Amino acid sequence: MRTVILHRRQVFQGPLLVINRDHPLHSAPADLAALDSLHPHILLERRTARLLAACIQSVGGQGEIVPASGWRSRQEQQAIWDDTLAESGADFTRKYVALPGCSEHQSGLAIDLGKAAGHIDFIRPAFPYDGVCGAFRRAAAKYGFIERYQRGKESVTGIAREPWHFRYVGTPHALLMDANGLCLEEYPDFLRQRQRSCPLPGGQMTQVFYVPCAGEETEVQLPEGCCQISGDDIGGFIVTAWGCPA
Ligand code: DAL
Ligand code: ZN
Repeated sequence: MRTVILHRRQVFQGPLLVINRDHPLHSAPADLAALDSLHPHILLERRTARLLAACIQSVGGQGEIVPASGWRSRQEQQAIWDDTLAESGADFTRKYVALPGCSEHQSGLAIDLGKAAGHIDFIRPAFPYDGVCGAFRRAAAKYGFIERYQRGKESVTGIAREPWHFRYVGTPHALLMDANGLCLEEYPDFLRQRQRSCPLPGGQMTQVFYVPCAGEETEVQLPEGCCQISGDDIGGFIVTAWGCPA
């Protein structure tokens, strides 16, 4: 075991941040990259871009799966909110557009995907469950992506079902959320109950556990091996450990 000190600001950093109307984004992403050379205007957080491109490639989706919207600045989110409000009204807007400052798109960790077609709806792109889009859905968790706004979770997420919106959270987490029917808002409580284990697609075991933020500084005992730490934006840290004894 080794001891590390986590600072309060780290509660608001990392790929597992809950971002919603109660949890606005605290900072803009530091490192954005284009999804690929076909879509230089679609920017994402660098690792998210790499893994999304790999996932699309793994199902042969290049050219058939079209990124409709990736990273957005706060100003862009505001313009989308204002335009949708003017065109489609308040009820529709609240269902399908996050409040400016509270959109996952501002983090660079979210992507809207559509099936290639003559016209792709920017707010609600069609992304079906069959064919290559279905294959993408089945592969997504292995690459660390969740379908973020699912049916039945509307009262928790505050957003209507959006079968086109995927969010990068990282591999053991996407697999754990899928296997346990959880949306991102529900995940920290699930980890608070007890430590979880999850095999990665390659067979390596990961351990995932929750550490509540104890104040300005939180002392954490980490197992030997590799660890990744992400804040949840709620009240603590999610620790992911690889290669440690089960
Ligand atoms: N459509 C999602 C909720 C957003 O605007 O971030
Ligand atoms: Zn979206």
